[in-house]
Amino acid sequence: MDNFNFYSPTYFAFGKDREQDAGALVKRFGGSKVLIHYGGGSVVRSGLLDRVKASLNAESIPYVELGGVKPNPRSGLVYQGIELCKREGVDFVLAVGGGSTIDSSKAIAAGVVYDGDFWDFYCGKYIDKALPVGTILTITAAGSEGSPDSVITNENGMYKRGATGDAIRPKFSILNPALTQTLPPYQTACGITDIMAHLYERYLTNTKEVEVTDRLTEALLLTMIHEGPRVIENPDNYEARANIMWAGMMAHNNAVGVGRSQDWTSHDIEHELSALYDCAHGAGLAVTLPANFTYVMHHDVMRFAKVAVRVWGCQMDFDHPEVTAKAGIEALRRFFISIGMPKYFAELGAKEEDIPKLVNSLCRGNGRPGCLTGFTTLNEEDCATKPGFQMRRPNIWKRFFWNIQTLRSATR
Ligand code: NZQ
Ligand code: ZN
Repeated sequence: MDNFNFYSPTYFAFGKDREQDAGALVKRFGGSKVLIHYGGGSVVRSGLLDRVKASLNAESIPYVELGGVKPNPRSGLVYQGIELCKREGVDFVLAVGGGSTIDSSKAIAAGVVYDGDFWDFYCGKYIDKALPVGTILTITAAGSEGSPDSVITNENGMYKRGATGDAIRPKFSILNPALTQTLPPYQTACGITDIMAHLYERYLTNTKEVEVTDRLTEALLLTMIHEGPRVIENPDNYEARANIMWAGMMAHNNAVGVGRSQDWTSHDIEHELSALYDCAHGAGLAVTLPANFTYVMHHDVMRFAKVAVRVWGCQMDFDHPEVTAKAGIEALRRFFISIGMPKYFAELGAKEEDIPKLVNSLCRGNGRPGCLTGFTTLNEEDCATKPGFQMRRPNIWKRFFWNIQTLRSATR
């Protein structure tokens, strides 16, 4: 196990009706004037926004509002939010919504107390200072409610990039599973996929002897495999939603990722898709994960075989471990399809002619060095096409082609 620091001071208020505590929690963490930040309207329609305002009013905490965060949140609204907070003397940002709203809130919180352009943080500058952020989560997916990360798309170039820093870990997060019961099944499934991706990206490690975090990750994956279909079948299943909500937080506050190298190349690839096509992050991952895993599997077949046996119940083939490894990847792909996720890149709106643009942005865009490093290193040749090379191990973007063509012939 590698040396590590783990600092995760978020206060979690979990359970039914906990949004009533919003005002008291803002006060507890020092807020005296709040920006309430939210998305495209689901929190207005559900009445949640009114309940949050009532809770702030009950504590006599003034607030201003900024709605309109889009999925795959954009830089434009972040600039607006920073201006608004400065003008109004806001000292606490309260996110009411999903990962997009929370990430936009974190970007505003960091930008308000920074003299330069907030995008510096999304080019690699560590966030060591920010206004305090609180969250009221309405979709279990991104894990931003417990993470030190934020992902924003810069409209200038459409680069979707992440920033990090302990300063943007939420001071508190209110997790009421009942709030997620209004989610459409597709969004619920996107969330399940994202949570499983966060677990897999940590599972794919080059660090040896990390049994405790391996086992915790496997437990969370098994929970998702059990609870995911139950909640798709019955969206009002509070208990299943509750288990998924806590699993989603645990999957991404890094408790299961400490002391080990991690992957994140699948996330990087997916971010290019959701930046260019504005698809849901989870849907992009459902296609990217199996394609990338099939490509990188040979780097450490036994790691893929291990998750296949322990999580998916595959039979271990000691003579041909790659058979077991592949069976596990196939089980993952089938699971995603079973909960309503896409199988092909084309279903996300992806186009064959965009491949050079996608590869360039992925490997070189926004200051990238020409490769992605994670479980293994992927360079532009890995991500594009290298004649002759992809015959045995079809590369990711070649699979991208293949998937589009398969879909075309399937729909003819
Ligand atoms: O905007 P509203 O009207 O609220 O509708 C949203 C949105 O359309 C809707 N929704 C949310 N809660 C709802 C609801 N509809 C009905 N009832 C509810 N209770 O769901 C849609 C998706 O919301 P969004 O916030 O975009 O979803 P998610 O939480 O999946 O966030 C995705 C973003 O997070 C980033 C992704 O890249 C993507 O931009 N990520 C952030 C991470 C982080 N900060 O640590 C890590 C992740 O890997 C991920 O990259
Ligand atoms: Zn994710």
